[in-house]
Amino acid sequence: MTDVADTSTEAPVDPNAVSITVNGRAVVAHKGQLVIDAAEDAGEYIPRFCYHPRMSAVGMCRQCLVEVDTGRGPALVPACMNTVAPDMKVVTDSPIAKRAQEGILELLLANHPLDCPVCDKGGECPLQDQAFSHGPGESRYVEQKRHFEKPIPISDHILLDRERCILCDRCTRFADEVAGDKLIHFIDRGNVTQVNTFPDEPFASYFSGNIAQICPVGALTAKPYRFKARPWDLQQVTSTCTGCSVGCRISVHSSRDEILRVQGVDVESVNHGWLCDRGRFSFQQVDNAARLGGPLLRGEQGHVDAPWTSAMAIAKDLFDHALTAGGADSIGLIGGARLTNESVYAWAQLADRLGIARRDAQLGDGLPPELLSLPRATINDAASAATVIVVGPDLKEEMAVLYLRLRGAVVNGYRGNKPRLIEVAPKQTGLTKYAWRSVQPRPGTTADISSLLADPAVAAQLGTGRIVVVAGRGNLAASEAAALAQVQAVLAALPAGADVKVLPALRRGNVVGALQLGLAPATPEQSTLATLQAAADGKLELLVLLGADPLSDCPDGELAERGLAGARRVIALDTFLTASAKQADLVLPVAAFGEQVGTTTNMEGRVAAVAAAVTAHATVRPDWMIAADLAERLGHPLGFESVEQITATLGYAPDVEGVLAVRTDVGRGSLPEPTAAVAAPNSYDYRLVVSRKLYDNAVGTQMSPALAPLPIGAGAHVHPLDLDRVGVAAGTAVNIVSAEGSVVLPLVADPSVPRGVLWAPFNQPGNDITAVLSGTAAVTDVRIERLA
Ligand code: SF4
Ligand code: SF4
Ligand code: FES
Repeated sequence: MTDVADTSTEAPVDPNAVSITVNGRAVVAHKGQLVIDAAEDAGEYIPRFCYHPRMSAVGMCRQCLVEVDTGRGPALVPACMNTVAPDMKVVTDSPIAKRAQEGILELLLANHPLDCPVCDKGGECPLQDQAFSHGPGESRYVEQKRHFEKPIPISDHILLDRERCILCDRCTRFADEVAGDKLIHFIDRGNVTQVNTFPDEPFASYFSGNIAQICPVGALTAKPYRFKARPWDLQQVTSTCTGCSVGCRISVHSSRDEILRVQGVDVESVNHGWLCDRGRFSFQQVDNAARLGGPLLRGEQGHVDAPWTSAMAIAKDLFDHALTAGGADSIGLIGGARLTNESVYAWAQLADRLGIARRDAQLGDGLPPELLSLPRATINDAASAATVIVVGPDLKEEMAVLYLRLRGAVVNGYRGNKPRLIEVAPKQTGLTKYAWRSVQPRPGTTADISSLLADPAVAAQLGTGRIVVVAGRGNLAASEAAALAQVQAVLAALPAGADVKVLPALRRGNVVGALQLGLAPATPEQSTLATLQAAADGKLELLVLLGADPLSDCPDGELAERGLAGARRVIALDTFLTASAKQADLVLPVAAFGEQVGTTTNMEGRVAAVAAAVTAHATVRPDWMIAADLAERLGHPLGFESVEQITATLGYAPDVEGVLAVRTDVGRGSLPEPTAAVAAPNSYDYRLVVSRKLYDNAVGTQMSPALAPLPIGAGAHVHPLDLDRVGVAAGTAVNIVSAEGSVVLPLVADPSVPRGVLWAPFNQPGNDITAVLSGTAAVTDVRIERLA
């Protein structure tokens, strides 16, 4: 929308331009634009409650009534339900429009409790604000208001105060249209209509926090924030969630140096304002009492506190000794995906100067870094493509807001385009029900993929326009090479000359930044698995864990154990004393999310700023500072004195929104040749699939009280018909045996698992599935044994 000087003499050049007047001023709107948006673009705010630009307009509240004249005389219409038309005259503040708006507000307040002094929304409440700006000032309603039991929990995170609800349909539309979790509804009719969940069916959605954010009143509140602060007490900084590689834009709200909540920020390119609950509530870890506050040194009696000066002197000695005793090849750096780009760069520079080639930001649970060198798609490219092919992970569990974006595009369309979704996954996923075609190839095989893509209808679809392949690792019980072979089978089957782009679905927060900026192995012999093996073989003098916990995150748990035990010295940089950090000789505590500035790179290669919302805990330091200090002590100064200096060196200069251009220039060639040998059938019964859930034993989840109870727990999931075959009831503990080892798990009947497959969630409370995994076997077959 732009102001124009004189529309009577100038025809609009843009065929989509529509000339209208708003409050007497001539402006140009565009075809199909809603009056409420066109007026806002023209600087005239029309009050509203139910309208939300990311959801369909429903005209529930009628607060947006304005006078519109399309040539037949002025009429009162809801501005969110009418699109602009040529020469339309819109008046938002005529006496009639104002009276209508006041009347609606008076009606909305007839039943509203007006408990603003004790309501969490007070101070940032559209109802409060618009009662002042567009309300009548007095009410004629003196009758008894509605009363409900309050508040009632409708999910693990959300409380509902029904008497505050103005029935705007935002939460219900979000649940239906955006999340696809239709778990909150209007029930009863007429004057007793209320919003609620059905008995015994909580709003168990990974996206529940969004409804508290978009509720225009205090009817829905998030437990972690309830009664914590008033908006005028809050400092806000815009930042980026590093919970996974989607990189949702967020606003971090703090008071008295404590982070109190995180809200989604609407950016067109990434998250459209939405967050998953893990991203929204994991800020609680920052203030967890278990945070490491100072360096720890392992002595005879376990870890003891050490001052930074001696800790850094010891770190320097450990590097010096390793370099002298075994050379640079006896030092390995594992991790880096939790770090900012600046910290990654500093550690990569230090590794360069010392000649350390063993470095890997992934933990044997991803795909080769060459994936990043393929023509890169953005999230919006995927939403705008003709066909999206998801190969590997369950995006709802691993990159939750990417799931929302793809689901939204497929179901509701994105900018007029509805891509067709083809899914290749080892079991049913959150996206399966929205897929046009779905195939669940047996791990280690690719024949099903080739035949699906050769199907004439699929081949015709692939010829209709851009194809975006979302490629990741769907099964930690099959090797990286086996996962890669499936990605390659998809890419090889696409029509020659097709417009194909790849969106790498590597899941850790800044894994793309870490790989691009130098924490990637140049050869497979420098990978995490190879480094752990070298350590296990006694060839590693020093292992440095950069925010990595291989004991919890490496699929080959047994190798991780042997590696940590076999490395002569271990230094861990972390925020908590993780399972792996507990094994370290020296633990250096680092700044957490929300305590440091810098940038992060998301799965698209999009660089965005992360901001400090609170002072760093105790004496912790950002990771880059530790690298710079060490480099100085080792006689290889990096020359950085501030994080801003490193950001400038990288050429990253965040704009006002903090979102930069997509950086796809750091590729290293094409994908390696497929090497996965397809495993021959063996005597074991079930092929194992292991993948992650949104909530697991990850430190960010376990150290956030709102999230800690949510993991589903370890289990062996098989198709209900296979359960009959095993001959034991669901819930019975059974022994799962592979060539690597065995683990006792409860059996779970799960129709999302294909016949002949056993699925186990990774890193869950309970017995550890890694006991039966090997990081290198193409696939893992298991037998289910009854316990005596
Ligand atoms: Fe609207 Fe909030 Fe009521 Fe849901 S609970 S209908 S978002 S007012
Ligand atoms: Fe954070 Fe990822 Fe969730 Fe977005 S999808 S809120 S980046 S954890
Ligand atoms: Fe238009 Fe609610 S905002 S009817």
